[in-house]
Amino acid sequence: MDSGIIRNELADERHDKMWASIHLEGTEKNSLLCWGALGLAVGNELDRAETALNRIAMLTGRPGTGKSTLARGLGGPLRSLVGGTVRVIEINGHAVMSGDHGQSQREAARLITEVVPDLAGAGATVVVVDEVESIAVAREAVSFDANPVDVHRTTDAVIAAVDVLADRCPNVLVVVTTNFPDAVDSALRSRADTIIDLPLPGPDAIHEILTQTLGAWARKYPNIKRVADDKRLPEVARLLHGIDARQVRKAVADTLASDIRTASDPNTLTVEDLLDRARNRAR
Ligand SMILES: Nc1ncnc2c1ncn2[C@@H]1O[C@H](COP(=O)(O)OP(=O)(O)OP(=O)(O)O)[C@@H](O)[C@H]1O
Ligand SMILES: [Mg+2]
Repeated sequence: MDSGIIRNELADERHDKMWASIHLEGTEKNSLLCWGALGLAVGNELDRAETALNRIAMLTGRPGTGKSTLARGLGGPLRSLVGGTVRVIEINGHAVMSGDHGQSQREAARLITEVVPDLAGAGATVVVVDEVESIAVAREAVSFDANPVDVHRTTDAVIAAVDVLADRCPNVLVVVTTNFPDAVDSALRSRADTIIDLPLPGPDAIHEILTQTLGAWARKYPNIKRVADDKRLPEVARLLHGIDARQVRKAVADTLASDIRTASDPNTLTVEDLLDRARNRAR
């Protein structure tokens, strides 16, 4: 596979699972899915200059809020909406950047305007660019003194390339993610049809994430299922409020690893163990 491409696959149940694994209390997932459905439905029958529809979505949010998982998983639910296969391609932004003069611009243009259209063909495709600030640095925020001119030119090249892609490939959706929206070039932000900010999970989402995470552990350690079903689990969720979803999932492993009893036999985990750990964290 091309070294600039870290994912090139047809969406299947794994993508459905990724999509389903992200629990949000708001409408963010629905917004992303509706954006994708519209972008693919429109095709090239309308003039992009008139619609300003660029088929770019930007996911923002703190670390561990589900940006990468949703971007990669979107192909799953899109399959049933388009009634056919959906290809998922991921560009490695970090592989684009090179110390050699002019190389980064050429690589960005090559990947976005040559490699992606070749891989996508005529089929519905989602292109993921994770941590997009690495290749679309905010030109307005960086000085020529502190940054090589190549950094500016790479952003120029990325902007030009996404315009070419939008004109030539109506079957391609681009989903970019960032923890630092202000570090992303404003011309790219302006091109995004939608910017979706993923929040920290609220207590209900935390409860669902805990239930799902405990369910995963219970596949190997069946007694953990009782903890997943315990009526005091919402109390654990309330105590954990304020942390990101990745930390919520990790809270289960942290708790298991915090005592030699549960570490050596996870089947002995109780809801009190989780409550103790969550209370310590909340203090
Ligand atoms: N809202 C959520 N519901 C359930 N699980 C979540 C949620 N958000 C994140 N996770 C879990 O947290 C982990 C990290 O998710 P992901 O990599 O998608 O986050 P991210 O926003 O891309 O983080 P980063 O900014 O650090 O790259 C995964 O295990 C994922 O399942
Ligand atoms: Mg990520």
